[in-house]
Amino acid sequence: MTTPRQRNRARLLGAGSLVAATIAVALAVPAQAAGSTLQAAAAGSGRYFGTAIAGSRLNDSTYSGIANREFNMITAENEMKADATEPNQNQFNFSAGDQILNWAQSNGKRVRGHALAWYSQQPGWMQNMSGSALRSAMLNHVTQVATHYKGKIYAWDVVNEAFADGSSGARRDSNLQRTGNDWIEAAFKAARAADPNAKLCYNDYNTDNWNDAKTQAVYNMVKDFKSRGVPIDCVGFQAHFNSQSPVPSNYHTTLGNFAALGVDVQITELDIEGSGTNQANQFQGVVQACLAVARCTGITVWGVRDSDSWRASGTPLLFDNYGNKKAAYTSVLNALNAGGTTTSPDPTSTSPNPTSTSTPTPTPTTTTTPPSGNPSCTATYSEGEKWSDRFNGTVTIRANTNISSWTSYVTVNYPQRIIATWNGSPTWPSSNVMIMKPNGNGALSAGQTVSFGFTVMHGGNWTWPGVTCTAS
Ligand code: G3I
Repeated sequence: MTTPRQRNRARLLGAGSLVAATIAVALAVPAQAAGSTLQAAAAGSGRYFGTAIAGSRLNDSTYSGIANREFNMITAENEMKADATEPNQNQFNFSAGDQILNWAQSNGKRVRGHALAWYSQQPGWMQNMSGSALRSAMLNHVTQVATHYKGKIYAWDVVNEAFADGSSGARRDSNLQRTGNDWIEAAFKAARAADPNAKLCYNDYNTDNWNDAKTQAVYNMVKDFKSRGVPIDCVGFQAHFNSQSPVPSNYHTTLGNFAALGVDVQITELDIEGSGTNQANQFQGVVQACLAVARCTGITVWGVRDSDSWRASGTPLLFDNYGNKKAAYTSVLNALNAGGTTTSPDPTSTSPNPTSTSTPTPTPTTTTTPPSGNPSCTATYSEGEKWSDRFNGTVTIRANTNISSWTSYVTVNYPQRIIATWNGSPTWPSSNVMIMKPNGNGALSAGQTVSFGFTVMHGGNWTWPGVTCTAS
C-alpha cells in the first residue's frame, strides 16, 4: 500500500532538483499533528496512557482536571481490591469502585481492573482462612467481582504479585499459594468464565530485568499457561523504579520476549523516584521500551501529582505537588510523539520528517538468504531516504523458482524500531523482528520480484536491518 504521503513524495521527487528546497519544507510538515497531551500522544501509535485514581481525590478539581485532560485509561488505586469490595465474606461493596468506574466512563475513559486475587490487602476474614475454604472463597470473590464489572473492564489484573523476590524463582509464600500451586490458573479460569471479554493479566513488580530469576519464573509460568490453554491475555509490569531498582537497559528485551509468547504487555503502575533530567531520561527509556514492542498496548502511571503518590517523598510522578508538568512529563510526551510500532501498523499514522541527508552510511552490505531447495526466494535490502532520526528501507523478494507465496523476516538492531510499512502485511513476534507477508496473493514466477518498504527510527544506530525470506 502506498500512503498519500508517499505518493506525494514520489510526485515531488519526480519534479526534479529545482524544487529541492520546496520538498524539504513539504516533508518537514508531519502528516499527523503531535499530541499535546499524554493520551493524544500515545494514541498516535495506537496505545493508551493511563493513571491510577484515588476516589477520595476526585473532588479536587486540579487533580481531576489533570486526570481528565491527560489520561484515557483509569485504574482504581485501591477501590477494587478485595478489602474494599468484599469487606465481609459474601457481602460485596462496590460503591468506591463504582465511583471510579463511573467517573472514567462518563469522561470517555477505559478502566483496568485491579486486582482480583492478591496476597495483600485481603479483608480480615480472608486473611484468616486457609485450604479449600480459602480456595473457594477466592474463586467466589473473583467470580462475583468480575461479574459485577462484566463488560466494563478493559483488562483485569487477575492475580497480583504471586512470585517471590530474589534469586529463588519460587512462588511467593502466602495463604493463597498454600491452597495449591494451581491457584493462579484457577483464578484465571474463573475470571474468564465471569467476563469473557476482559483481557486477563498477570501483574507483578521486579520483573523488568530479563536476567532476574523472578522475571524468568513469571515468563515460564506464562509460557506454560499458553501451552496448556490457561486463559491469559496479558502481563502487567508494575514498573516501580528508584535508584536501587533502576530501569534496566534490557527492558525492551523483557517486554518483547513476553509479547512473543502471544500475550499483550502493559506497563501498569509506573513511577520513578528522582527529579530533573535523570528522572526524565528514565521515564523516556520506559516509554521507548514500550513503543519498541508492538504488543505493549499502553502505559499507566501510579498517580497524578507527586503528592498523590504512595511514595510521595520520592517525587516519582509526572506532575509536581501543584499540578505543574515536570521535566519527566515533557520527556514522556516527546517520546510518545516520536512514535513506535503499532499493533496493526498504519503507514499513514507516521510521517518521515527529514532534517538531514548527510548521515553515515550503514556498514553491512546487502543481506540475502541463499536459495535452498525448491521453491525458494532471495531477499535483498536496499537503503532508501535517510533523515536525522529515521531511514527508509526496501526489501526486494526475488523468486528463484515459481513460488505460491513468500514470507520475509526483517530484524532491526536496538534501539531501532520500525514505525511504518508499506506494500505488505506485517506481524510483530518480538520487539526487533517483523514478519512481512504479501498483501493478497504472493505468487511469483521464477525471476519475478516484488518489494515492500518500511521506515526505521534509528536512535543513532545506522546498521542495516537483516532480511531473509522463505518461499512456499
Ligand atoms: O484510607 C485509609 C485512611 O482512612 C486511614 O486513615 C489510613 C491509615 O493508615 O489508611 C488509609 O488507607 C491506605 C490506602 O493506601 C489509601 O491511602 C492504606 O492504609 C494503605 O495501605 C494503602 O496503600 C496502598 C497500597 O497499595 C497497599 O498495599 C497504596 O495506596 C497503593 O498505591 C498501593 O498500590 C500497590 C498496588 O496495588 C500493587 N503494586 C504495588 C503498589 C504500591 O505499593
